[in-house]
Amino acid sequence: MKATARAHTNIALIKYWGKRNEQIILPTNSSLSLTLDGFYTTTTVEFKEELAKDTFYLNDEPVKGEQYSRVAKFLNLIRRTAGNEQLYAEVRSINEVPTAAGFASSASGFAALAAAGTKAAGVDMSNQELSKLTRQGSGSACRSIFGGFAEWRMGNRADGSDSHAVQVAPQDHWDIRVAAVVLNETMKEVSSREGMKRTVDTSPFYSGWIDSIPNDLKEIKAGISVRDFEKVGQIAEANCLKMHATTLGANPPFTYWLDTTMTVMQTVREMRKSGIPAYFTIDAGPNVKVLYLPQYEEKIQQILSDIEGVTDVRLSKVGQGITYL
Ligand code: ADP
Ligand code: DP6
Ligand code: CO
Repeated sequence: MKATARAHTNIALIKYWGKRNEQIILPTNSSLSLTLDGFYTTTTVEFKEELAKDTFYLNDEPVKGEQYSRVAKFLNLIRRTAGNEQLYAEVRSINEVPTAAGFASSASGFAALAAAGTKAAGVDMSNQELSKLTRQGSGSACRSIFGGFAEWRMGNRADGSDSHAVQVAPQDHWDIRVAAVVLNETMKEVSSREGMKRTVDTSPFYSGWIDSIPNDLKEIKAGISVRDFEKVGQIAEANCLKMHATTLGANPPFTYWLDTTMTVMQTVREMRKSGIPAYFTIDAGPNVKVLYLPQYEEKIQQILSDIEGVTDVRLSKVGQGITYL
């Protein structure tokens, strides 16, 4: 009745940005990401007869409120699947990633919780089934079940039975790297959940976003399969800018960017002009992730670290899928 699992975060190259069903988390568009070995969550779930409710400790601190409710709600799904609705759990999770700061802690967090929770409950499922379950905790988390490059196929059924991630290339397919440029590790004001909802409901740019996805996905998959760095980088960078553009059209309008976010973007463009291949992408937060190839690692780290306002540059390789400890 006790299990520990680890999951890594992922960085979306084609973003998930919008839900067509908020209850069971069905997206309005398919997305594609790279699992990162540098950021992860380790979670232990233990079901205990003597508990009258679930308890959740994050980084050794007891958690209440919204963060607790999201975990308890997700445990309900596991209990239902296991056919035992009366058994409560103690959840202990350690984030080796800043929480709720735009580093995808919800992705590694819910993927680790799903893996440890189902194992502790004695539920045996394929990774595809696990990805569907995980999706209902946090959408981006369904991609973190897999290592390497993963695509979340949106599916078209109303019950979500065809909405899950699949691996499009394994971890060892390509040694592409990501520098996470840290400007701010504090919690964001607009969560991903709230930000995408406001955008879907109010942004006139939203339909343009949706229209552009099928081609971006097709092209980036072609680029990944032949390891075409320029192609993959260009598509990812443009897709990120389109996603962030939709937030400016929302009502009330918002942006996740800080002034330093734009300075980093400009530095990446200048690097390219000077012959260093690098592309950026940004999730729902101010911090920038820079894609690069191993031979440029030293140079990239030095240039990014020298930018005023940058507090840390964390380098990451391609990561693996969930593991049980
Ligand atoms: P992020 O960019 O970090 O993914 P989100 O707003 O998408 O930001 O999600 C952050 C939320 O994810 C947290 O407020 C919390 O509810 C949940 N979360 C983060 N880490 C964990 C974890 N280890 N276990 C369970 N839930 C987590
Ligand atoms: C910008 O998966 O965090 O990072 O499903 O509401 O938990 P919920 O949202 P979340 O959204 C991630 C948005 C994004 C893009 C992406 O990761 O694809
Ligand atoms: Co998230």
